Amino acid sequence: MSETIWCCPVCGSPLHPVERSLKCENRHSFDRSRKGDVHLLPANKMHAKLPGDNPEMVRARHAFLQKGYYAHLLQTLCEAADGLPDGGVLLDAGCGEGYYTAGVLHSLDEKGKTCHAYGVDISKTAAGYAAKADPRLDCAVASVFHLPVQDASCDVLLSIFSPYCGEEFRRVLKPGGRLVMAIPAARHLWELKAAVYDKPYENAVRDYALEGFDFVQKYTAERRITLDNAEDIAALFGMTPYAYRTGAAERERLAALQTLTTETAFEVLVYQNQP
Ligand SMILES: C[S@@+](CC[C@H](N)C(=O)[O-])C[C@H]1O[C@@H](n2cnc3c(N)ncnc32)[C@H](O)[C@@H]1O
Ligand SMILES: [Zn+2]
Repeated sequence: MSETIWCCPVCGSPLHPVERSLKCENRHSFDRSRKGDVHLLPANKMHAKLPGDNPEMVRARHAFLQKGYYAHLLQTLCEAADGLPDGGVLLDAGCGEGYYTAGVLHSLDEKGKTCHAYGVDISKTAAGYAAKADPRLDCAVASVFHLPVQDASCDVLLSIFSPYCGEEFRRVLKPGGRLVMAIPAARHLWELKAAVYDKPYENAVRDYALEGFDFVQKYTAERRITLDNAEDIAALFGMTPYAYRTGAAERERLAALQTLTTETAFEVLVYQNQP
């Protein structure tokens, strides 16, 4: 394998590290930021000035996750990613601020396995946080729909509450490589929804089939969590898709909550890339 899995977003050639830059054979060059991440998102693929999660969302999620509320999900992801071969390549597509990416890397350390870990996020702020989550984590600002990643270069790809692009995921995974996905289970955040909405609905649980992948295994991660301050409750709500479709009355109910005990329930699905 070459020194990195990155490829040039302009011409598609492999990128090589040269001091703090990545360069391709056609002299395209990309500098790392002070935080260590590298911008590999071409201007014509930037559909907003600051695409992806904004700095406020990233900071709120970072603070929430650092308190360990979702440690049970992290532990389950570590089990699901355990099949990564020693010296293998892990890519987190839509890595956010790298909480799960760095966590999986640390659990592999504990098992005495080495791994090359990469993260991609379209949000510059998120990629900056991820690059600082562990100095070994190599992070790029890029889109999961156009991964600047060489074909068949990854052993395990994580997709945790981020956009899904089956075609790209299959391309960058080795044949037989594994996709690990997390999705909310039916009763995830039930009490939070019941406190905010008149008619809360359970999450729809979808069919597990994914084109081009064989379904291997399902894990569940469940825990009741208690949040004892409005800030954490707001951060939790902000991490959900409901944050975008909630009216003023519901927002008022949410703002009045000072404490909340709620079920959290996830499914972690493991797939194998068909040869
Ligand atoms: C709900 S967050 C999940 C982040 C992280 N996986 C976690 O679970 O903490 C979704 C992430 O996807 C990123 N995102 C949105 N669209 C994207 C795209 N097209 N390509 C890469 N990342 C994207 C956002 O910036 C955000 O960080
Ligand atoms: Zn190039």
